[in-house]
Amino acid sequence: MLDIVVCVSGGGTNLQAIIDKIANGQIKNARIVGVISNNYGVKSLERAKNAQIEAKVVSPKDFDDREAFNEALLSTVKAFNPGLVVLAGFLVNIPAAFVKEYSGRIINIHPSLIPSFCGKGFYGLKVHEAVLQRGVKVTGATAHFVDDGTDTGPIIFQKAVYVEQGDTPQALQLRVMEQAEWEILPKAIDCFANGKLKIVDGRVIVSE
Ligand code: GRF
Repeated sequence: MLDIVVCVSGGGTNLQAIIDKIANGQIKNARIVGVISNNYGVKSLERAKNAQIEAKVVSPKDFDDREAFNEALLSTVKAFNPGLVVLAGFLVNIPAAFVKEYSGRIINIHPSLIPSFCGKGFYGLKVHEAVLQRGVKVTGATAHFVDDGTDTGPIIFQKAVYVEQGDTPQALQLRVMEQAEWEILPKAIDCFANGKLKIVDGRVIVSE
């Protein structure tokens, strides 16, 4: 059984997708043992409570400096002793010590087709605003392992989503979540939990 910690910042729709797919058996041999938010009072925390999952808040506001926050974040994760850390809408730069501690065991969901519209400054709605600004016709989402860069780790799954005429950033974000994120992140977790992912020369091989 793979123990998972899910890190969140806001609405938690990706967290909810994971909760639901563990419940309906689409994610096998895995359970969420903890949810960690960097914000108080967000819907993610309600979702964890409703699913009887232990939730902790580690907020930068509660620490004198970034180093203290980073240490508290890592120690809070470690206390759950997870086999996998999932970043689901987690808008925090993961510290190097965290990446090192969980190397090869951190999965992130990014709301674009990496390497487009990713890296510093590309998160949440900003991604979709840039997509619409550039006028691309296809966007999507990427589930990837986290390395010491920003959105640069080995790609596990991607799914394309069409941009539609008249899309607002909000409408596009919802479509990308519904059609891509909520599908490929749970799929990546299931594959990891059942030993189907291998990294060869920096690229992910998925076995059936
Ligand atoms: C989504 O756009 C997700 O791709 C990004 O954060 C946003 C909110 O995700 N990583 P959630 O609803 O909190 O899961």
